[in-house]
Amino acid sequence: MIAGDVYKMESHSVSNIVQRGGTILKSARSKEFMTPEGRKKAYDNLQALEIEGLIAIGGNGTFTGAMIFGNEYGIPTVGAPGTIDNDLYGTDYTIGFDTAVNTALDAIDRIRDTASSHDRIFFIEVMGRDSGYIAIQSGIAGGAELVMVPEVLTPISQVVETLKQGWSRSKSSSIIIVAEGDEEGSAQEVADKIKVQVDENADIRVTTLGHTQRGGTPSAYDRILASRLGLGALEGLIAGQKNVMAGIINNELVYTPFEDTIRLPKPINEDLLRMVKILSV
Ligand code: F6P
Repeated sequence: MIAGDVYKMESHSVSNIVQRGGTILKSARSKEFMTPEGRKKAYDNLQALEIEGLIAIGGNGTFTGAMIFGNEYGIPTVGAPGTIDNDLYGTDYTIGFDTAVNTALDAIDRIRDTASSHDRIFFIEVMGRDSGYIAIQSGIAGGAELVMVPEVLTPISQVVETLKQGWSRSKSSSIIIVAEGDEEGSAQEVADKIKVQVDENADIRVTTLGHTQRGGTPSAYDRILASRLGLGALEGLIAGQKNVMAGIINNELVYTPFEDTIRLPKPINEDLLRMVKILSV
């Protein structure tokens, strides 16, 4: 919008992309849009192009920008939630989350082969700067011994305790999932703190999955979710919705004001953390 880099899309513009990760639009975080001058440029371009409504795809940052822009210039905008973090209030799941979880799970399964073959402890770091959704879901599905998330403090003493309990039951390998935003630090930092507290023969390794979780072929679930939310955003806009995000809650399409999606927390289900403990016994 700021660069006036606009082209008309027809239905065939999206042929052959359903199986691709990333974005053909190449939209991304924009520092300039955070400034009043940048938004003014965007507005002038939209006016010149006679564009009367917007669909914004993204997470917290995107909807913050869309809300400010909507308040300043009154252009109706409807959002579609796209972030692997699944940290947006107003939808059960965000586009990309399921794929990211499955990618992380695939890696955890492979790492488990080394962990169990060589009796090792693996600390695996998954994405989630402020959110433990990927960690908890991939951790449960991957049979992790412990999952460390930003929302709930897991002290180092608890990690040590979990490992010791495992050894006392003759467990020879362990997998601990660390969300990148965990309070105890990165997976490497957690592993370093653990090393000095456990048996010096413990064979500890660290793997950071990083951006491997962001790309790749979307899962069937994500393709269907993206189709439903894309259509929901478009039909909402046509029907007069504005400054809201389309989401799916309990399998129903709902619209939630941007303000709420940004402001309200989406807590992880702490019962799931409890379940990890029970299942890892
Ligand atoms: O916001 C989504 C997210 O995937 C976070 O989990 C992660 O911290 C961040 O993006 C990585 O961003 P970048 O690609 O800019 O390093």
